[in-house]
Amino acid sequence: MIVKRLSIENFRNIEKMNIEPCDRVNVIYGENAQGKTNTLESIWLCTGCKSFRGTKDKELIRFGEEKAKIELDFFGFDRNQQMKVEIEEKRKVQLNGIQLPSANKSLGEFLAVVFSPTHLSLIKQGPSERRRFLDTAIGQLRPNYASLLTKYNRAVTQRNAILKDVYHHPELLDTLDIWEDSLAAYGERILNYRLSYLEKLKKEVKDIYSGLSCGKEEIGLRYIQDEEKGALCEKKDELLEVLKASRKTDMLTGTTSFGPHRDDIEITINGISARRFGSQGQQRSCALALKLGEASMIKKISTQQPVALLDDVMSELDISRQDYILNHIKDWQVFITCCDPNTILHLKNGKTFQIENGKVI
Ligand SMILES: Nc1ncnc2c1ncn2[C@@H]1O[C@H](COP(=O)(O)OP(=O)(O)O)[C@@H](O)[C@H]1O
Ligand SMILES: [Mg+2]
Repeated sequence: MIVKRLSIENFRNIEKMNIEPCDRVNVIYGENAQGKTNTLESIWLCTGCKSFRGTKDKELIRFGEEKAKIELDFFGFDRNQQMKVEIEEKRKVQLNGIQLPSANKSLGEFLAVVFSPTHLSLIKQGPSERRRFLDTAIGQLRPNYASLLTKYNRAVTQRNAILKDVYHHPELLDTLDIWEDSLAAYGERILNYRLSYLEKLKKEVKDIYSGLSCGKEEIGLRYIQDEEKGALCEKKDELLEVLKASRKTDMLTGTTSFGPHRDDIEITINGISARRFGSQGQQRSCALALKLGEASMIKKISTQQPVALLDDVMSELDISRQDYILNHIKDWQVFITCCDPNTILHLKNGKTFQIENGKVI
């Protein structure tokens, strides 16, 4: 995927902007609150996803205006294409001049990955962030996965409801067996997807992290279920056994204490927990490596290289890590925002855009 031209109208603080990026690294720089992230966000919306800042569509329209427009000429799936996004009451999308029935029909046409400082939560926060990362990444590549997760979560909810009632209604025990059975069956399939994805992702992430740290540090990713239990339970029968064994304690809390909805990925640097002991720069590098690894996986499976949108990624990274991002990410189109104009002194092959008050100057 290559963005050839981006044209924006009345989007956030941008009244009008027209840029023609280069095929490699594009640096968008300027002072705070000038519209750098807004520019990346406008590209991101062309993927068909919601804003990565969690903003509602309507709030993206420039204050006092009625309609925002984004036009993106891009090269993807071996041809020149055009995505037009209009935000009014609702989002309307045209692909190559044809109006799509709904905005989410444009998913999968223009591919990008975004890294923003909020993604540091991948490293810093609890397991649910990492599960969501894994689930979203797999969901993009495997259309059946999302519905599998929904079915699994429904089985968990049902089991929990029965656990709360079974003391007073022992006749519910039979139904409990049924839900536990489907829980274990769906659980096995989810684990299968997750473990095989993680195995491949690990290889990509290791290479990227090693590049970022000039080979000085090694990142480790490991799927973990329950720290005390050691070996992974992957098979339906094994999962079922744990569920049955934990019934009594689960009844006391009315929750299901074991299963894919509780799992985590342990991230280490040179064998030590990145979450607990990593420096700011190391944590940022880990999150970035995960996101870039996700992009490599999309490339491997869909054969299309997503555009990388890297918001504020340079701060807290030393010169060698910055250099890797600017000059060693091969064959991708990258958009990077930063405040410090000195950053681009290290840019060997790319284009720069200075942004002030929503305009390229
Ligand atoms: N809907 C909107 N209309 C007009 N301005 C907006 C809107 N949403 C955000 N802004 C302005 O955009 C600016 C922030 O732009 P942003 O791209 O996040 O800055 P930065 O250059 O630091 O990345 C803020 O000044 C904010 O007030
Ligand atoms: Mg910003």
